[in-house]
Amino acid sequence: MMYVSAIRMAGHRKGKVIKMKKLILLPLVLAVVLSVAACGTEPQESGGQRGFKTAVEGKLTMATNAAFPPYEYIEGGKVAGIDAEIAAAIAEKLGLELQIDDMEFDSITEALKGGKADIGLAGMTVTPDRQEEVNFTVSYATGVQVIIVKEDSAIKSLEDLKAQGANHVVGVQRNTTGDLYTTKDIENAGLGKIDRYSKGADAIQALKTGKVDCVVIDNEPAKAFVSEVEGLKILETEYIIEEYAAAMNKENIELYEAVNTALQELIQDGTVQTIIDRYITAN
Ligand code: ARG
Repeated sequence: MMYVSAIRMAGHRKGKVIKMKKLILLPLVLAVVLSVAACGTEPQESGGQRGFKTAVEGKLTMATNAAFPPYEYIEGGKVAGIDAEIAAAIAEKLGLELQIDDMEFDSITEALKGGKADIGLAGMTVTPDRQEEVNFTVSYATGVQVIIVKEDSAIKSLEDLKAQGANHVVGVQRNTTGDLYTTKDIENAGLGKIDRYSKGADAIQALKTGKVDCVVIDNEPAKAFVSEVEGLKILETEYIIEEYAAAMNKENIELYEAVNTALQELIQDGTVQTIIDRYITAN
């Protein structure tokens, strides 16, 4: 600001004392150049002090799939939800600015592996296969795979779903654990067929229109979807209980340590629970 007005003032005196103007301008230009250069390197220096590198200097880039309420969803053109708030708290602890990139669920792992994103927060379940690809932080929430059916459905339990000769069509979000388990238990076992959708909400629509017989998905988004579509219900029998954690690049150990420590602190001091309680009412 100071430089700008000083230069402008110098400009007004144009023609009066040319030499004088040059003398004034040279140190000013130098000062501006130096301060701009300093701004550019500042995050790098403090990043170095912190001892980790991020995908974008000074930012914590979160990869997610914002079609999974209440963990992540679009609200007013922005990604909102539990994971977004947890990421914001982690970023604040690390002195980074949070940037959220919304993508297909199955692109998250690639974004992390390629160093395009720093942290995958997407209600992502820890599985042995995924552990080969990414590092998982401590778990911050529990998820349950549930079965959604039409209110008058003949499927009343997990046993009904897996019954011999039943030949049900199951809707899932592609590459989620709901997909992985039902593919193994039902499709590969010759007991039925899996229809894979890029969004959980699309699988729900397929259920509503009778294209699939049930949907297997995480319990919290299940509640959110069922509350918005009439004539659907969640079965009492649970498919499987799982742990959610943040996924990170396997090589970037320094950042992993920093994020994992920050998340542990946020769990211990109750911040994570407070965030979850704002979205999920215990019952
Ligand atoms: N918990 C499941 C999994 O890890 C589903 C997660 C889907 N998340 C999302 N943001 N769409 O596969």
